[in-house]
Amino acid sequence: MNQPSPRKFWRWFDPRYRQIGTWAFILNRITAIGLTVYLVLHLYMLSKLVQGPEAYDAFIALAKTPVILFGELLVIAAGLIHGLNGIRVGFNSFGFGLQRQRETFIVLMIIALAGTVYFAVHMFGWA
Ligand code: HEM
Repeated sequence: MNQPSPRKFWRWFDPRYRQIGTWAFILNRITAIGLTVYLVLHLYMLSKLVQGPEAYDAFIALAKTPVILFGELLVIAAGLIHGLNGIRVGFNSFGFGLQRQRETFIVLMIIALAGTVYFAVHMFGWA
C-alpha cells in the first residue's frame, strides 16, 4: 500500500543502500539551494551600496573575517560541484556520456575538490 508513514519519512534521511546517481542528485539539489540562498544574500549585501561608502566599507570589513571567508569557500565549492555536475546532466540529457556516468561524476567531483583546495589556499593565504 502506498500510504504515508513515519517509517517512510525517516527513510529519506537513511544514507544506506543509495547508489552514486542518488548521491549526485542529492549533492546537486543541496548545492542548488545553497547557491540560491547565496544569491539572495549577495543581492542584499550589494544593496548596501545605496546607503553610501561607510555602510559598504563596514560590510567589506566583515567580509574579511574567517567565518565569512569560510562561507565564501562553501559558495565556491557549491558552484564548482553544481556547475560541473550540471554540465554532465546537460550532456546526458542529449544522450552524451550515458555509458560513463559514474566515472564522469567521480572525475568531475575530484576536479571540484581540487578547485576548492586551490581557492582555500589562496583565500586563507597559505601559499
Ligand atoms: C555553471 C552553472 C550551472 C549549471 C551548468 C547548472 C545546471 C543545472 C542543471 C542541469 C540542473 C537540473 C538538474 C537535474 O535535473 O537533475 C540544475 C538545477 C538547479 N539549479 Fe543549476 N546550474 C548552474 C548554476 C546554478 C546557479 C548559479 C544556481 C542558483 C543561483 C542554480 C540553481 C539551481 C536550482 C535551484 C536547481 C533545481 C535543483 C533541483 O531541482 O534539485 N544553478 N542546474
